[in-house]
Amino acid sequence: MADTVAQGMIDPIALRRAFGTFVTGVTVITTRDSDGNPRGMTANSFTSVSLDPPLLLVCVGKSAASFPAFNETQSFAVNFLHEGQADVSSVFASKAADKFQSVNHDRAHTGAPVLTDSLTWFDCAVYNRIEAGDHIILIGQVQAFGTSPSAPLGFCRGRYASVKDPLPAGWLASQDMIIGYLVEAGDRILLRDDRKGGWVLPTARRRKADSKLVLDGGEALSLVPENTFLYSVFDVADSDPGYLIYRAELSRASAQGPLPDGHAFFAVDALPYDQVATHELRAMLRRYARERQDKRFGIYMDSGDGGRVAMIDGQSQSWTQAASE
Ligand SMILES: Cc1cc2nc3c(=O)[nH]c(=O)nc-3n(C[C@H](O)[C@H](O)[C@H](O)COP(=O)(O)O)c2cc1C
Repeated sequence: MADTVAQGMIDPIALRRAFGTFVTGVTVITTRDSDGNPRGMTANSFTSVSLDPPLLLVCVGKSAASFPAFNETQSFAVNFLHEGQADVSSVFASKAADKFQSVNHDRAHTGAPVLTDSLTWFDCAVYNRIEAGDHIILIGQVQAFGTSPSAPLGFCRGRYASVKDPLPAGWLASQDMIIGYLVEAGDRILLRDDRKGGWVLPTARRRKADSKLVLDGGEALSLVPENTFLYSVFDVADSDPGYLIYRAELSRASAQGPLPDGHAFFAVDALPYDQVATHELRAMLRRYARERQDKRFGIYMDSGDGGRVAMIDGQSQSWTQAASE
């Protein structure tokens, strides 16, 4: 058996170390102070509490600079971090003056700042506050929440840990469509390592064709916005809710800069088809490589009768330009 320590002789440092052997995720809890300024701190004391009513809790240390804000607020948000956000955890665990400068945030329901690039967020009204030693237990009633398929950031024994393959089969089926990007740079296509020995398309949550594409891992790529268009819409049987695939072109700066972790370019005529996991994705990449030679692309939508393709030429044009012709 491991070491035991008798009650009454509890060494706080040893206790903290023992608590730290419990594997958790990492959250950033956020609120606004009485002047309306956003306040936040890293917290791994999250627990889900109840489904009906929908309750959760976090424990907030009384010595934290943001404690008064959490002790007085009527609302707060809990933002789970994904594996690409260890830096966000460090910023919010620090005493930095403006922690919110480095993250995207928005209001959802209560007005508490929600970190929009997080793995999952819960916007809560305060349900109860319970005194508990050097912390308070802050219980929130969930008013709104959002989630994404990214891998969570884990934490154990004072270190960040990666959590492999976190999605149980069928989990995605209850979620929105997956937005994939067929990103081209010169004669190369950007693919993402699926960590199971295969390659998939980079995915993102937003499907707005603008110049900045924020991938699910949190990394941003810059695109040539006028060259982005919808390319394919399909389901992969029994596995997930369906894909919306956009074709996009990387800006020169992003094409020459460092690639996000786990991403690589492949020449269009040497795509690793054997390592592309699904038949649907393979078929789409083959079609793309073929169509690209003539710069005439088909927009594909699957349907009960085998799917339909509408052909467009390779030049997309702006709506204002098209409307004035
Ligand atoms: C992974 C991790 C988890 C943490 N969990 C908590 C927690 O649950 N409750 C808490 O009060 N502090 C927690 N902290 C410490 C606070 O983030 C830290 O004290 C921070 O500086 C508070 O910010 P503030 O003083 O600006 O309010 C955690 C820190 C880390 C790195």
